[in-house]
Amino acid sequence: MSKQETLPRKTFAIISHPDAGKTTLTEKVLLLGGGIRKAGTVKGKKSGVYATSDWMEIEKQRGISVTSSVMQLEYEGVQINILDTPGHQDFSEDTYRTLTAVDTAVMVIDGTKGIEAQTLKLFKVCKMRGIPILTFINKLDREGKEPLDLLAEIEEVLEMETYAMNWPIGMGKTLKGIYNRSDQSVEVFIEGQEHQVVSLEEAGLRDYETEKLDEDIMLLDEAGNTFSMEKVRDGKMTPVFFGSALSNFGVQGFLEQFVQLAAPPQPRQSSKGEVQPNAPQFSGFIFKIQANMNPKHRDRIAFLRICSGAFERGMDVTLARTGKRIKLAQSHQFFASERETVDTAYAGDIIGIYDSGNYQVGDTLLTGNDVFQYEELPQFPPERFAKVIAKNALKHKHFHKGLHQLVQEGTIQLYRTPYFDDYILGAVGELQYQVFEYRMKNEYNVDIELTYLPHSLARWVVEGEVTDRMTDSRKLLVKDLHERTVILFENDFTYNWFKDKYPEVKLSSGWDML
Ligand code: G4P
Repeated sequence: MSKQETLPRKTFAIISHPDAGKTTLTEKVLLLGGGIRKAGTVKGKKSGVYATSDWMEIEKQRGISVTSSVMQLEYEGVQINILDTPGHQDFSEDTYRTLTAVDTAVMVIDGTKGIEAQTLKLFKVCKMRGIPILTFINKLDREGKEPLDLLAEIEEVLEMETYAMNWPIGMGKTLKGIYNRSDQSVEVFIEGQEHQVVSLEEAGLRDYETEKLDEDIMLLDEAGNTFSMEKVRDGKMTPVFFGSALSNFGVQGFLEQFVQLAAPPQPRQSSKGEVQPNAPQFSGFIFKIQANMNPKHRDRIAFLRICSGAFERGMDVTLARTGKRIKLAQSHQFFASERETVDTAYAGDIIGIYDSGNYQVGDTLLTGNDVFQYEELPQFPPERFAKVIAKNALKHKHFHKGLHQLVQEGTIQLYRTPYFDDYILGAVGELQYQVFEYRMKNEYNVDIELTYLPHSLARWVVEGEVTDRMTDSRKLLVKDLHERTVILFENDFTYNWFKDKYPEVKLSSGWDML
């Protein structure tokens, strides 16, 4: 076995709200692992220099930007795979789907703000999957919320136990260091300098700092939760780290613990039961299809998470959905912004494979005669809706072909109104519409017209009957791709009104139906 094969894998993604510091933390982690050849500079709005993990932005300026990259680093004998989760205007269903391909999530919270909306949305997906969540509370160099309040907020809002792995000594201007609870060492903070890890005695704390720390730790020991690896692995307890990504403070300590706490590749449910990562048969599933990464080549890359066995370039696999045999001749692994050809990869790894139009999001690829399928990816609740038509009615054939293929592939969701058969596209983020429009034009030669609707919530009818007179333009009755009845609500108000008025109708928000 090669060295690469024997290295344990830890595959994770960061969940956070824009500006919490995801890019900065990723950058620092990559630097520590030597996973970046040429360190990019943290994205500077003024300087126009982008962090390497933010390279999508650059792609965007060239034409169309689509979703995320995968990065790799080796740290203390562990191969770490980081999947980027696009936020900002790039937030889309792919951001959610990425979370189905990781074994651990790192939640970055801005300590001055606490839990924000996008973190909460992404957190729910992780919780649903029961994956371990490690928390990094960032921006300790700024005056933020009280650490104890932040822990209470996580426990209350996210309904999970916390365990503080380290504890701040001061914050903002008075930041002195962080105390590591596992070995009682202190990482001393001196602005602009490399941070030293010393014993508590050597940290040079003033009396009042020592007193406050003693008090806090006593409180955590007595009133706080007891650490449980089992709860962490079940996603019921989150280990919490304080630090400052920008100052590279607390990042190494975090990474050292991360390799211990993060989960190895997990078994995965399939049509033939659970598949173990050490099973000899190669298998994996596609969680994302990225089109036009390079506008010059107009290629499409399908991102595959390997769930079992080993991948070798040139191997023949079966696409479980159709039974088609495919040779995986062109495959890539991602090294920050660079694409490299990959010859071998193992369970837990992500590879990009060239797609000439064979794949759909959720597809299973495998070797051997024992053909099975991994469980379907959940449908994530869309938040924006738009009616779509072809600008030129004569192009309706191309329009339908493109529409159905892109919907099948997982680019966007499709709904229809009952009588007029209007097509309504549902998406999680604006980017999905841009990608759809661009691809319709470039791949199917159809100009489309989008009319945005005021609705923001989709609810599936799981029980009871909904008739026309119960709905109107504020609560629009539609069918999804599987002919299931869905109501699109304008907002929480119209949704709650409907629930009160028709309590016999049971509604569900997509993902918890599965
Ligand atoms: P994101 O990927 O989660 O969106 O966040 P990103 O890392 O881009 O960080 C958002 C902003 O927060 C950046 O500032 C970054 O420098 C800053 N930041 C990240 N970590 C820390 C930290 O530990 N302490 C402090 N004080 N700031 C931090 P910006 O003004 O948006 O960009 P820039 O022009 O400073 O680069």
